[in-house]
Amino acid sequence: MTTDHNSFQAAILQGIPATLPPKHQFPEGVNRAPKRKDILSLGEKHLAVRNALRYFPKKWHAELAREFAEELQDYGRIYMYRFKPNYKLYARPLSDYPAQSQQAAALMLMIQNNLDPAVAQHPEELITYGGNGAVFQNWAQYTLCMHYLAQMTDEQSLHLYSGHPMGLFPSSKNAPRVVVTNGMMIPNYSKPDDWEKFNALGVTQYGQMTAGSFMYIGPQGIVHGTTITLLNAFRKILKSDENCRGKIFLTAGLGGMSGAQPKAGNICGCITICAEVNPKAALKRQQQGWVDLLIDKLDDLVARVRTAQKNEEVVSMAYIGNVVDVWERFDQEDIQIHLGSDQTSLHIPWTGGYYPVSLSYEEANSMLQENPAAFKKEVQQSLRRHAAIIQKHTDKGTYFFDYGNAFLLEASRAGADIMAENKIDFKYPSYVQDILGPLCFDYGFGPFRWVCASGKEEDLDRTDAIALAVLEEINTTAPPQIQMQLQDNIRWIREAKKNKMVVGSQARILYADAEGRMKIAAAFNTAIANNSIGPVVLGRDHHDVSGTDSPYRETSNIYDGSKFTADMAIHNVIGDSFRGATWVSIHNGGGVGWGEVMNGGFGMLLDGSPEAAERLKSMLFYDVNNGVARRSWARNEEAVFAIQREMEANTPIEGYPSQPSR
Ligand SMILES: NC(=O)c1ccc[n+]([C@@H]2O[C@H](COP(=O)([O-])OP(=O)(O)OC[C@H]3O[C@@H](n4cnc5c(N)ncnc54)[C@H](O)[C@@H]3O)[C@@H](O)[C@H]2O)c1
Repeated sequence: MTTDHNSFQAAILQGIPATLPPKHQFPEGVNRAPKRKDILSLGEKHLAVRNALRYFPKKWHAELAREFAEELQDYGRIYMYRFKPNYKLYARPLSDYPAQSQQAAALMLMIQNNLDPAVAQHPEELITYGGNGAVFQNWAQYTLCMHYLAQMTDEQSLHLYSGHPMGLFPSSKNAPRVVVTNGMMIPNYSKPDDWEKFNALGVTQYGQMTAGSFMYIGPQGIVHGTTITLLNAFRKILKSDENCRGKIFLTAGLGGMSGAQPKAGNICGCITICAEVNPKAALKRQQQGWVDLLIDKLDDLVARVRTAQKNEEVVSMAYIGNVVDVWERFDQEDIQIHLGSDQTSLHIPWTGGYYPVSLSYEEANSMLQENPAAFKKEVQQSLRRHAAIIQKHTDKGTYFFDYGNAFLLEASRAGADIMAENKIDFKYPSYVQDILGPLCFDYGFGPFRWVCASGKEEDLDRTDAIALAVLEEINTTAPPQIQMQLQDNIRWIREAKKNKMVVGSQARILYADAEGRMKIAAAFNTAIANNSIGPVVLGRDHHDVSGTDSPYRETSNIYDGSKFTADMAIHNVIGDSFRGATWVSIHNGGGVGWGEVMNGGFGMLLDGSPEAAERLKSMLFYDVNNGVARRSWARNEEAVFAIQREMEANTPIEGYPSQPSR
């Protein structure tokens, strides 16, 4: 055992340390979270400090009160940096965790993965991704949570309120070990500034989707999702004898999630042009091998694109500059754009998420600081120009889709000519309306994922092989409606290792329906029982069939008026909790913004036991089919087909129709 291992176990078992730890030194070069809005009144600042002191003995209060007030002043939040542990944070093998419950140890592994500096965006501030996706609000919550997890038995449940461990309560073996809620607000208090205020007070947090639910697996998830989206977008526009070679995909953004676009474009086999105003972001993605070429002049870009088209190259190019300039220049040059999209951060348009075309990057940053009202006007004007040039291209045959970044919403709010004739819908579809909804979610296909808790690469290889065999077997008898989805994922899993997407835990993602997820999980459980692999943690992205109610994204292809309700996500988390989930989570916010979405998920430890075999059957079936049933009730053709298939495969209750009436 190494010193780090021993001190790690001892620190977890101790919880809040007995003596006040020394002041924190920030590691060099670490990516720190931006200073948050100074939103609290003086009285509220006092309250925030008092709230923070609750975690510590009275004898430390005088010293910590000063320090926490300074943190609030300097960073807009109290992170309690001093209590960040000294041991390394990363997903250790399951057996390394000091625990009485293996299920609790699985949670510890997944929590530490989300805080691993190689994985997390702002590890010092406990932010995993998305700028604000928090695992905990502060280091005291982390410390206490790990301490409780180490102590708890399989007959207890830990309840986390936005990172705060509210209590370890008696429950039962069949109950989840942990119940997570993040950002649950009284609906009237769910505006962006409410998050700023209540997060600064230390009473709520933004869990994004997989940050506060301990299910993040690095960039692999977004690369896979973007690949599936692009493959299907091309299918919509290509003739049956055509492929993506030499076809152009134009988009913007090389940031946290958007950086996946050129990588996915290369996997699909097209020419990707991705504009990025921030040269550092573009360079980082090139150095990571996510984009092939950096180009900073429009003339050079045009020449390189023409060569790539002529030679039908598979290549991705980062244009360092504004995406609107590329759209406009390609129009002048008559370069045919086959697919167009955008992944600038339009969920935060006024604070630097979207850079207006009228200003250089530097000018925009200065104006943002000095005159935010003028900056907002420039953004709105740019969005109108952006929408107008997209229209010119779509008139020439470009297929443009919104990729979940609120482009259409913000362009419409800016007064761009972007509404359909009925003045209700947008002119262009969102990727869920046209692609992921009807082709995947409505059939139950969504982002199933797993983590090999041994931490061994060879376990991941074995699980890849198991999953591949299961999908191939299912494909032999699958109906034509879902063969394409199966084949895309068979291709993905065959090549998954080659794409070198593993960062942090040994994790894999693929899209599968209820049958696929259940059969893959059952095969893993058998392999664990046979000692062929170690334990496996199952989970999924919240961006899925049933987990998320989000009217402009996951449920944007629900047309019966119910897309502004959130019953599905709430039922899902409750339903999963009594069907065997090891942990469940439900969040406000995530992707499209605070107050705009409810999203939930689960984690489940497979340990090879017969109980795990029962749990996975019951929970995975419901976890997928809850959403398929809801989508079918909304009259979505594909979901009607899928739920009917499920009902035929499962003995119908006598006297009830097996075909849903519409
Ligand atoms: N569809 C999905 O599944 C999905 C998944 C993740 C994120 N998103 C959404 O996509 C958006 C981007 O996410 P992210 O994590 O990459 O954000 P990010 O802020 O890290 O990256 C966005 C990038 O766009 C660049 N940019 C802004 N304006 C530009 C312009 N006019 N021209 C060229 N570049 C410009 C920025 O410099 C930045 O690097 C967010 O709104 C997010 O919610 C969608």
